[in-house]
Amino acid sequence: MRLQLRALHPVTAMVSTVPDYTALKASGFGFRPDRGATLDGMFRVESARRRWFLPAAILLVSSLLWADGLAAQNVLSRALQERIQENPHTTEADVDAGARVFRRSCSLCHGADGTGGDGPDLTRGVFRHGSSDAALFRNILTGIPNTGMGGIYQPDRSIWQVVSYVRSLSRAVGEEEVPGDPRRGRMLYMTRGSCSDCHRLNGSGGRLGPDLSDLGWRRAPDHIGASITDPSAAMDADYRTVEVRTRDGGIVRGVLRNEDRYSIQFLDEFENLRSFQKTDLAAIDKPEESLMPPLASFFRGRDLDDLVAYLYSLRPE
Ligand code: HEC
Ligand code: HEC
Repeated sequence: MRLQLRALHPVTAMVSTVPDYTALKASGFGFRPDRGATLDGMFRVESARRRWFLPAAILLVSSLLWADGLAAQNVLSRALQERIQENPHTTEADVDAGARVFRRSCSLCHGADGTGGDGPDLTRGVFRHGSSDAALFRNILTGIPNTGMGGIYQPDRSIWQVVSYVRSLSRAVGEEEVPGDPRRGRMLYMTRGSCSDCHRLNGSGGRLGPDLSDLGWRRAPDHIGASITDPSAAMDADYRTVEVRTRDGGIVRGVLRNEDRYSIQFLDEFENLRSFQKTDLAAIDKPEESLMPPLASFFRGRDLDDLVAYLYSLRPE
């Protein structure tokens, strides 16, 4: 009977059993030496277990994770452990020292002057992953998981100095001025060069190339311009071109997704995911050439400026 009730009205059944701890005790946790296990008691024990065990387990696991996290931070840095919120190293000399570290460890991706390249522009004073001193410190120390941004292993003081330098950039530059007209650029994007055949923008378009919805946040204007006029020179490392020749002589091109010793997977030019056993292929080539056609002849002068201005204006929501 009880079983049926539970099945039919799980909510009422739960409510009705909630304050029943005394009965639970009396039933001997579902086992009575005189009568063996009682269904009724077992059910109560089960639901009581569920009520207590789940929150208790969550509490235990999360406190373990928390302790673990603290231990890791301990190893990594005193500042994080002590939860220092404000940068203690902000003099001119600190900024200079930070600039030296930046040129060595960061400029490869963020540009010599911090205006971006493979990594985002850091000169705008707004940061997607947190703009506080503490957030900058953490992101530079530990990196940003699952992105191209790794951390650096340096004493706290050097990291604070880099934070000071990064801050000094936004005071000096602000958002980069671009000459074009973004509204006209938008019109060009829609009508010329078939951009949306290969690129997604705000949820629609192709998947062969990168999503452009937050391009202006990720890339500096120069890089955007170069990506359009000479895609192969400004190749995105996540979008390697592959060209395979099958044993019957067919040639298939696409953008590499995955490869191991025995097989290769890529998105072909019609956006079909193709998978080949390497033994079935006569040749695999990975030309240093973008699948995106060079569009310098379609976009030059004012047209190029406008298109770049539009793409540079695309920011995360
Ligand atoms: C190998 C390339 C690479 C290097 C080297 C690198 N970064 Fe980054 N960085 C990135 C990428 C890519 C992102 C964007 C992560 C994302 O997609 O969210 C990023 C993000 C950041 C952010 C967060 C931006 C935001 O809007 O929140 C900061 C701050 C930053 N980097 C600072 C630095 C500093 C300082 C250094 C040198 C100590 C450095 N980076 C070195 C690639 C790099
Ligand atoms: C045939 C498919 C195709 C077409 C058409 C195409 N692209 Fe691309 N695009 C790609 C691929 C693939 C990449 C990634 C490889 C690379 O960096 O060149 C890319 C890269 C880019 C990048 C660099 C993105 C980044 O994250 O750095 C920009 C900007 C870009 N395309 C803009 C455009 C614009 C604007 C048009 C239209 C005028 C266009 N593309 C047309 C395939 C295409």
